[in-house]
Amino acid sequence: MSQTPLMAQYYKIKKENPDTVLLFRMGDFYETFEEDAKIAAKVLGITLTKRANGAAGEVPLAGFPHHAVESYLPKLVRAGYRVAICEQLEDPKSAKGIVKRGVIEVVTPGVVFSDGVLDHKRNNYLMAVFISAPVAGVAFCDISTGDFFLFDADLATLHDRISMIAPSEVLAPGKQRGEVQALLDKAGCDARITKTEDWIFNREYAKETLLKHFGTVNLKGFGAENLEPAVQAAGAVIHYLTETQKAQLTHLNKMQVFNASGYMVLDQATKRNLEITSSMTDGGREGTLFAVLDKTETPMGGRLLKQWISAPLTSLEPVRQRQNAVEVLFSNKKMREKLKKSLSGVGDLERLISRICTGRATPRELVALKYSLMEVPELVKILAEADNPVMATLRSSLTPLGELTTKLAGAISDNPPAALAEGNVIRRGYSIELDELRELLYSGQDWIADFQRTERERTGISSLKVSFNKVFGYYIEISNAHKEKVPPEYIRKQTLVNAERYITPDLKVYEEKVLHAEENTRALEAELFNDVRIFTASYTEQVQNNAKLIAMIDCLNSFAEAAVEYNYVKPIVNDSGRIEIKGSRHPVVERILPPGEKFTPNDYSMDREGSRIIILTGPNMAGKSVYLRQLGLLVLLAQTGSFIPAVSAEIGMIDRIFTRVGASDNITAGESTFLVEMQEAANILNNATEKSLILLDEIGRGTSTFDGLSIAWAITEFLHENPRRAAKTLFATHYHELNEMAEIFSGIKNYRVQVREFDNKVIFLHKVSPGSADHSYGIQVAMMAGLPPEVTARAKEILINLEGKELTPYEVKKAKKAQKESEDRGFYQLSLFEFTDDALRKEIADIKVEELTPMQALNKLDELKKKLKE
Ligand SMILES: Nc1ncnc2c1ncn2[C@@H]1O[C@H](COP(=O)(O)OP(=O)(O)OP(=O)(O)O)[C@@H](O)[C@H]1O
Ligand SMILES: [Mg+2]
Repeated sequence: MSQTPLMAQYYKIKKENPDTVLLFRMGDFYETFEEDAKIAAKVLGITLTKRANGAAGEVPLAGFPHHAVESYLPKLVRAGYRVAICEQLEDPKSAKGIVKRGVIEVVTPGVVFSDGVLDHKRNNYLMAVFISAPVAGVAFCDISTGDFFLFDADLATLHDRISMIAPSEVLAPGKQRGEVQALLDKAGCDARITKTEDWIFNREYAKETLLKHFGTVNLKGFGAENLEPAVQAAGAVIHYLTETQKAQLTHLNKMQVFNASGYMVLDQATKRNLEITSSMTDGGREGTLFAVLDKTETPMGGRLLKQWISAPLTSLEPVRQRQNAVEVLFSNKKMREKLKKSLSGVGDLERLISRICTGRATPRELVALKYSLMEVPELVKILAEADNPVMATLRSSLTPLGELTTKLAGAISDNPPAALAEGNVIRRGYSIELDELRELLYSGQDWIADFQRTERERTGISSLKVSFNKVFGYYIEISNAHKEKVPPEYIRKQTLVNAERYITPDLKVYEEKVLHAEENTRALEAELFNDVRIFTASYTEQVQNNAKLIAMIDCLNSFAEAAVEYNYVKPIVNDSGRIEIKGSRHPVVERILPPGEKFTPNDYSMDREGSRIIILTGPNMAGKSVYLRQLGLLVLLAQTGSFIPAVSAEIGMIDRIFTRVGASDNITAGESTFLVEMQEAANILNNATEKSLILLDEIGRGTSTFDGLSIAWAITEFLHENPRRAAKTLFATHYHELNEMAEIFSGIKNYRVQVREFDNKVIFLHKVSPGSADHSYGIQVAMMAGLPPEVTARAKEILINLEGKELTPYEVKKAKKAQKESEDRGFYQLSLFEFTDDALRKEIADIKVEELTPMQALNKLDELKKKLKE
């Protein structure tokens, strides 16, 4: 069926951009059609209508005014869609037939420049994965900052790396999509996988793509010559970016080999359990370590801080370097304040220079870049006051870009409009030619006023008015009352109800000149602006380098600020294998306690020998989980170079923190199963080393008491007896039976969280001390929680019965009576006595499973079921 030429053009472009929502520019609107229209209507809340399409019928349509793209585009991208922006490529006025249109850019979750989509405290990574078992190649790139990394990784542990990088979009060869999806699932990463064709990962093609992009003859300069699958992934990233961007990518001027081994591995579970950058309750920032610690002033500082605390260091020297720098700032308030002030004047250098390179920068962004760079000499001056090697290195690595700031200051006016087209962007005095053109324009305004005045005098028509519109240009308007006074040389152009409009040859000559000047001014201004942009872009590397250094200064200063504000101390880090911490607090919990409550400081003492495994018991609500996570956070903070909330601390470097938190503490839906709990335990037992720290919160809780207890015991025993897995372990549990292990195994110690019992209530002291707890006080906590008194009273009875282990006939009778009573009161009650049917028990016990055929087993089961019903 024949369709309109316009729709034919649409379908052609749509076909070239599959898997995208296509925004199709039509005059002042962006329109979407078909399925895209349905998506747009749903995501953006705009009206779905229909458009006639010739004989082909009607198609669904949803559109919005072009200026709304700023707010609508981010919504689509954040909803996970790839959006292709199709513009009119020629002026409709001069177009013959249908206007030429084409896609100028594809915005995807991993490829964005827009402030509306980007979070300035978070890197937005596009990642490519190419599996070549048993390894995989990975590349990831933040196009908004110009960061580009690649590495080869062991397939078995790759998910932990992915979880750390947390990409927003992932490329994978079509054939490997399933495998890569499985990796993402394991990493707890909900980024979408973008369908790409397999050949873009082709070894030769990928290498060729990279060489062409970087303009090098080989990849040796990047240390990537021998990274086989990683290069394939990196090539795919560049291919994809070129495809979607159609613009220059000059700011992606290098790629770096990502050295995973220098960082502590924090797997997905640990990152989540310790609430490092996102909270367990809603995934937000509130209540996280990052939120408490972040005192940064610049966007790149914020991003780097997030990276630092998500990837603590594993070797001593770099940790000590950061610590020493923090110490200098810690004890120098003046310097801290000066840095803070200077840093607050620095904008997002990385994203600014990226936007400048890709031709997206507005005049205001160039001004922001200027002011940011003007802080560099100031920072150099402040750093010179410190007598510290790290500060000295930072200082001497900063590049004051005087020539660039002078150029920007000379070229761009101080308060330019947001858009170049609005004019007055280039500063007066920068270009003689431009100034002359502007002079012409301004003097033109005077000319009009003069012209109007002389014409009024000449004709004696005091209401004569000179005006301008787009159709006629300049004209003279005279109301009908003065019709007869109109001079003969006036040429009539238009008749209105009350007036006539005229032109004169003089006016036309002038008009030519003005319009020309206006057009020329705009063109010249655009040209000059572009020159400045290109000049600025030639400093990309230096700007990026400054950005990295400023981010570092910002982070170190932020650590010092936090340390002073929260009363932290510099921990001693070494390779002693010991952990000795006195008077420490949980960095987040201590900040969010209700007013009036004070955090109770606690100690830790662990080593490679007698105190390697600690079994921590204590009532519900006593503070076990807090104590456990606190240690994880203290170690993590210490190894990022930060000070920590404690009175004193010695921390032997840890290579990896493992956490396993009880099923009910785990909020993510669908994960609170025993199976997941055991998978995580398996991961720990298989990967821990004698330098690891393991935090186990109530392992084994997800199953029956005896199964759980047995598993917990066996796990602890394994960790104790297996020298290669001899990690320091903190184990919080309600299985008081585990306290017996301390008697048997020399490396196990018991600790308990103290409570005081008063007037049948428990008072939580939150103090941890050697020894074991004997009660769980679960029922008291249940009372506090407001469980109906009938239920808690009944629970107490049952508890007494259970603790008596064997029930006397009297107790059975009593319990049954109580049960009967509660049933009469309409309570649902799980009977404890169903399994006391001895005959049935005996019969089951006597079954010799190994001698039965499957058929016999089924029959037996059927028989037993029937007996149950009798
Ligand atoms: N050292 C402390 N100082 C002050 N308050 C604390 C301290 N430790 C814990 N708390 C408070 O006690 C509450 C309960 O702590 P936590 O969740 O660690 O208990 P728990 O022993 O793990 O309980 P459960 O056995 O039910 O899991 C915390 O939310 C916190 O408000
Ligand atoms: Mg707990």
